[in-house]
Amino acid sequence: MRLAYINASRIFKVLALTIVLGISAARAQSQTPVYLDDNQPIKNRVEDALKRMTLKEKIAMIHAQSKFSSPGVPRLGIPDNWTTDGPHGIRPEVLWDEWSQAGWTNDSCMAFPALTCLAATWHKDMAMLYGKSLGEEARYRNKNILLGPGVNIYRSPLNGRNFEYMGEDPYLSSQIVVPYIKGVQQNGVAACVKHFALNNSEGNRNTVNVNVDDRTLYEIYLPAFKAAVQEGGAWAIMGSYNLYKGQHCCHNEYLLNNILRKEWGFEGVVVSDWGGVHDTHQAIFNGLDMEFGTWTNGLSKGKSKAYDNYYLADPYLALINSGQVGTKELDEKVRRILRLSFLTTMNKKRPFGSFATEEHALAARKIAEDGIVLLKNKGNVLPINLNKAKTIAVIGENAVKMMTVGGGSSSLKARYEISPLDGIKARVGTQANVVYARGYVGDTTGNYNGVETGQNLVDKRPASQIMAEALDVARKADVVVFVGGLNKSDNQDAEGADRQSLSLPYNQDKLITELAKVNKNLVVVNISGNAVAMPWVNQVPAIVQGWFLGSEAGTALASILVGDVNPSGKLPFTFPVKLTDNGAHALNAFPGNDKEVTYKEGIFVGYRWAEKHNIKPLFAFGHGLSYTTFQYGKVTADKKSITASDKITFSVNVKNTGSRDGEEVVQLYISDPKSSVQRPVKELKGFEKISLKPGEQKTVTFTVDKSALSFFDAAKHDWVAEPGSFEALVGSSSADIKTKTTFVLN
Ligand code: BGC
Repeated sequence: MRLAYINASRIFKVLALTIVLGISAARAQSQTPVYLDDNQPIKNRVEDALKRMTLKEKIAMIHAQSKFSSPGVPRLGIPDNWTTDGPHGIRPEVLWDEWSQAGWTNDSCMAFPALTCLAATWHKDMAMLYGKSLGEEARYRNKNILLGPGVNIYRSPLNGRNFEYMGEDPYLSSQIVVPYIKGVQQNGVAACVKHFALNNSEGNRNTVNVNVDDRTLYEIYLPAFKAAVQEGGAWAIMGSYNLYKGQHCCHNEYLLNNILRKEWGFEGVVVSDWGGVHDTHQAIFNGLDMEFGTWTNGLSKGKSKAYDNYYLADPYLALINSGQVGTKELDEKVRRILRLSFLTTMNKKRPFGSFATEEHALAARKIAEDGIVLLKNKGNVLPINLNKAKTIAVIGENAVKMMTVGGGSSSLKARYEISPLDGIKARVGTQANVVYARGYVGDTTGNYNGVETGQNLVDKRPASQIMAEALDVARKADVVVFVGGLNKSDNQDAEGADRQSLSLPYNQDKLITELAKVNKNLVVVNISGNAVAMPWVNQVPAIVQGWFLGSEAGTALASILVGDVNPSGKLPFTFPVKLTDNGAHALNAFPGNDKEVTYKEGIFVGYRWAEKHNIKPLFAFGHGLSYTTFQYGKVTADKKSITASDKITFSVNVKNTGSRDGEEVVQLYISDPKSSVQRPVKELKGFEKISLKPGEQKTVTFTVDKSALSFFDAAKHDWVAEPGSFEALVGSSSADIKTKTTFVLN
């Protein structure tokens, strides 16, 4: 009895205490405004914050207050939004209202390889590592909107900005962009995918209206953006500078209202490209949320503190105050921006990030090593055998030139950048004698927006003397590594202008041809984000596509050249022999004029054009060699025929038949030989990078559904898979199909 009494009194006390605590907790909770309560769904928090904001606060939030920021709501404790370029590293701080450097001493970032290199890894894990590392850097620097990644399709090898994108294939870019975004956003930093859409050349980018048919738009130019939004869950997207259907893309009814929001259900923020807004009315009604970078109407370029005059600033306020427009659209914009704030700056659980760490250096190096492509290796000149090669001649400006500075908005202030020459020297050590000669003089500038490389590349000697010196050095060496290609100066791989030809600049073709004559062990490393012509291809035994590789450029290149790492990158775009082997150029449809461009080649971009016209490329899409060899078994399908609601799985066995560990990208292409519409010969619909030890084999499987068989029917405005027989082709590149099987769609 007594025991029962004690228990009852205890229970009573505990109950009483729970009630008291419960009441005070509830009181405390009721004092926390909904918008600050992270137990509340974001939707409720957004609505609560929105109703507390004044009209002026709302207007302030939707346009810039400085070169890279827009205000939050200080009164409510909602922080400013801070954007940063860009896709390859976190841009250094500029002044509040100027492009010049703020002069911070703690903003030197890790430079990651350019996105072309990431795409060349064909490796989703690398894209995740890239996004995660870059997101950590952005977070550490207190940026909550990363202006990247870029997924505009590689339409012509002359586009100055191709290096910032992911190549010519919509499937490849879709697969790479998704993990990149997830990696960035797990840090509480929004990825802002750019440039939506049809920004496929730099010349005339602010004035050109792109004419493209719907099928091409949906099949080629939109898929990566759609994947970014629907699978990657991107929190922001950037409109592009150009026009489509006569409207600038930053406030484009068709692209933003109809496709992005209605068709794809995008809930994130549409950010303008810097200075991409041209009209208040369109900016209000056509889907834009935030305006940045405008040199506003009526003000001369460069006039400071112009922010109140932005299209979405005082002019919008005046329209509201005079009753000419309502506030419905404004509230929608603010809702979307608030949502982004709750996912980023207002998320108390987001990690702290880290900046230019050793871990990020390792990530940058790994991605670079994974993306370098071995294009040619006749007579196994590579890897360089350090037991035999006692003198290595390194020739070429790009062996020493810093590449992280320049190229436009993706230019960086890197904590360090290891040049190819330094990387090779460090790796070779005392095992061989490394001798350098420049061979040619290209771009000697070393400054972007006030970031200085600190390199003095001026060499006033006559070109003939500089070349003769290089030939002399090369003649006496056991192996010659020529490191050339493009750079980040205007009309090369740089924003704001396009290249003027497919050829290498600065007389490099002549130099390479002469080098090949004096030394048969010549390796050409092409540093670029674009295809280049190689008239000397048959004279040179080994060719490596080096990309812009970031801080760890030299280390990564050296490990490939000496074979510490077995190359496994594959080209994310076609290298044509000549410009007219590319559809846009064959039809004289690039870049158009300053007002109009028509994508006359339609869906036949990159390998789709080459295959349609039986044009043998210099190097095909998906091509990339290894120091080992792989043998493909026969591809099998789990079904002979499928219906439109089925999936089908293909399996193929791949074996490493050489004597080194290696990675291979196994590629699946689908072909629809008979169709009521013209279709590409085949299209990439799956890939997997596998790693194999010597003698090891693995079975790779690909499961696809009818989306892999469909084309976009413009009349129906829908995807259509026509019944009939299809082919599944599996290979090591688009031009090296090893095995195939057929199946039927009923
Ligand atoms: C570029 C964007 C970049 C922005 C901010 C523009 O010129 O097109 O890609 O994010 O500048 O620097």
